Amino acid sequence: MPEFQTSPGMRDILPPESGRWRRFVEVFAEVVESAGYGQIIPPLLEDLGVFQRIGDATDVVTKEMYDFVDKGGRHVSLRPELTASVCRGFVQHRPLTPWKVWYAGSQFRYEKPQRGRYRQFDQVGVEVLGADDPLLDVEVIALGWDFYQRLGLTQVRLLLNSLGEPGDRARYVEALRGHFESNLDALSPESRITLAKNPLRVLDSKRETDAPLVAAAPRIAEFYSDEAAAHFEAVQTGLRAVGVPFVIDSSLVRGLDYYRRTTFEYQGLTLDSAQNALGGGGRYDGLVESLGGPATAGIGFALGLDRTLLACDDEGVFPAPSAGVDVFVVDTTGGSEALDITTALRRAGIRADRAYEGRSMKSQMKVADRSGAAIALIVGTDELAQGVVTLRPLRGEDRQYPVPRAELIESVEKALT
Ligand code: HAM
Repeated sequence: MPEFQTSPGMRDILPPESGRWRRFVEVFAEVVESAGYGQIIPPLLEDLGVFQRIGDATDVVTKEMYDFVDKGGRHVSLRPELTASVCRGFVQHRPLTPWKVWYAGSQFRYEKPQRGRYRQFDQVGVEVLGADDPLLDVEVIALGWDFYQRLGLTQVRLLLNSLGEPGDRARYVEALRGHFESNLDALSPESRITLAKNPLRVLDSKRETDAPLVAAAPRIAEFYSDEAAAHFEAVQTGLRAVGVPFVIDSSLVRGLDYYRRTTFEYQGLTLDSAQNALGGGGRYDGLVESLGGPATAGIGFALGLDRTLLACDDEGVFPAPSAGVDVFVVDTTGGSEALDITTALRRAGIRADRAYEGRSMKSQMKVADRSGAAIALIVGTDELAQGVVTLRPLRGEDRQYPVPRAELIESVEKALT
């Protein structure tokens, strides 16, 4: 055992998997930038207060924060998510609205690590501030859906709910409180604690003891104002119009406290039910205000990269891109031929690698084979004397031939096409 290893819930992402992570973000950027979203890169660390505005009834805020007092006496925290940071940024910079941004990066939550649940994990996501239009909800939800399609995932289910207007939500929370309190004995001890903090979150309970009571709980739809019902209806009509399939789930409340009206979650059907949320989001119309800004509508989502890649593994889609080189230079002259040739190739934009430490021809050819390169360029003393390089295809056809040094780049380009 080495003395130092990564901390629990934190991992090294090594090649070729790291190439897959980068490609994931690139594909996400292609999808959302084609819809007018620009990238925001907030700091990894903020004043603790920014994240406390997420709401003090969530585990993310009360139990899982990586917070500490810095050398200047500021109470700060590594970010557990990015929605609060984006809203803080909106208040700080006052951009024109609608402000459409996307992000990618690591988040930190002190959770119990298991497959699909880490203490450092990555998200990609979007947020739109300053537009209160149900067709924006449709745009946002459809972008997440389309991204999963682009990855090649088919086993994804979109769950949709509305938590109503703030007034509807408040009346519903009271009705839920009444329902659970009058059946307190039938509730698990954990859910009794949740009930005291936020009755909505009891609906999230996956414990069997709670199942009958959760199933018998009042439904949010009974509490919708006309306005909330119309908004929700418009979102559903829009999703149907753009061909995004969804399932209404009236118990979908999501883990964070700031949601109002539309909430949604993308579930990975191949994953274990405790960790099957690939991503989720919703409207959070009061968050900017709670961070000191003007009343501003907000909606967005975040998709978990780690979990989504587990789902890709399960479905055998979105493999790691080949990180290998195109050309491998085998040099047995003992001089600087490999250095000269790889440098020239790389400067011409051709991916090239070589062996080191003056190994034998046989050993260098072995490395060349492993490198994934399509061709080997071989330089020995004979080639050096004749001013040529032997070009040997490493896959398919077996015919090798000499190429004059002066025509090296053109010949390699031709052989690679
Ligand atoms: P969230 O549901 O907390 O929402 O996280 C979104 C996704 O991040 C989850 O569905 C999951 O895939 C991934 N995730 C969360 N925690 C972990 C973990 N410990 N390990 C691995 N993956 C994890 C938010 O973060 C909101 N900010 C989403 C949002 C944006 N709402 C509106 N705008």
